[in-house]
Amino acid sequence: MTTSEAQAATLGSAPFGTTGDGKPVSLYTMTSGRGVVVKFMSYGGTLTQIMAPDRNGHAADVILGLPTLADYLKLGSASPYFGALIGRYANRIAKGRFSLDGKEYTLAINNPPNALHGGLEAFDKRVWTVEPTATSGHAVSARLTLTSPDGDQGYPGTLQVTVTYTLSDDNAFTITYQATTDKDTVLNLTNHAYFNLAGAGAPDGVYPQVLTINADSYLPTDAGAIPLGAAESVAGTPFDFRKPTPIGAHIRDNNEQLLMAHGYDHNWVLSKTGDRSQPQFAARLVDPASGRTLECLTDQPGIQAYTSNFLTATIAGIGGIYRQTDAVTMETQHYPDSPNHPDYPTTELKPGEIFHSTTIFRFGVAR
Ligand code: BGC
Repeated sequence: MTTSEAQAATLGSAPFGTTGDGKPVSLYTMTSGRGVVVKFMSYGGTLTQIMAPDRNGHAADVILGLPTLADYLKLGSASPYFGALIGRYANRIAKGRFSLDGKEYTLAINNPPNALHGGLEAFDKRVWTVEPTATSGHAVSARLTLTSPDGDQGYPGTLQVTVTYTLSDDNAFTITYQATTDKDTVLNLTNHAYFNLAGAGAPDGVYPQVLTINADSYLPTDAGAIPLGAAESVAGTPFDFRKPTPIGAHIRDNNEQLLMAHGYDHNWVLSKTGDRSQPQFAARLVDPASGRTLECLTDQPGIQAYTSNFLTATIAGIGGIYRQTDAVTMETQHYPDSPNHPDYPTTELKPGEIFHSTTIFRFGVAR
């Protein structure tokens, strides 16, 4: 089949094993009818595989994933969050502490000296309830839901979370996040897919892939990856991706921020125009060799691009042994440690409010 021969989008499911405490996990397969296939499982809402065609119609797996559920489970707290849904708070909260309404909350320090990605048993380690929703022939959707009880991982309020995965016949994969709470709380939701448009395990990693980020500034951090405060201009720094730039072009520059983070692991402040509630262009990744392209649009204020700096050839995945710079994440989100930075866009959610957010990953081909 060539990518121009459209077929109806489809969604199927199959058993994918059971968790350590006996919960059954299913694997879902969505096809766009135009060459893109997205596989995800109910454990962590984890994207396990995305097949995308190149300019000749040949598909490759463009995210880092693992072959079996057991491979994910055995990583435990050393999980690099491959493809998982992250909550309640994506990224870091300094020293695992924040105050809300005058009360101090304490979180597990799972990335010393800070709290990372929602804690020890966070959303990436839960079995989500998955319901396929209506298909139109042009798109397929699945609704993933989770109830996070009051006090879960130290966060206040019962949080009802709904994430919808939609694959449409324009090869766009859309993630919508919705959440409500019964007490004042904070949240920051994202997906942690590691992208490599040459295919997982490609020998040159993502160095030759050309990245554009729609951001004039980024958030420099301390050694623990907590933002120092105000955003700084990307001009004249290795963080300037306003024009398409190969990821490898400046990753070895003698720059204090790159040295501390072992590569890129920063939050860019997305430039916005007009209606900020609508997804806007955030980033584009192009693999010149295969022609595969990925465009990311979001309504979130920031994007964490992380060049898999802490993959150290200890995990064997579908694409082989994963190493540093094998992939880049595009984690659309609020800024790290926002609950401790009153000047950042707020991550607070109150009873009666509905948190809603949309991120689109659109796959394509450059001729
Ligand atoms: C963080 C990295 C971290 C990775 C895996 C990313 O979102 O920014 O510092 O190593 O997640 O945990």
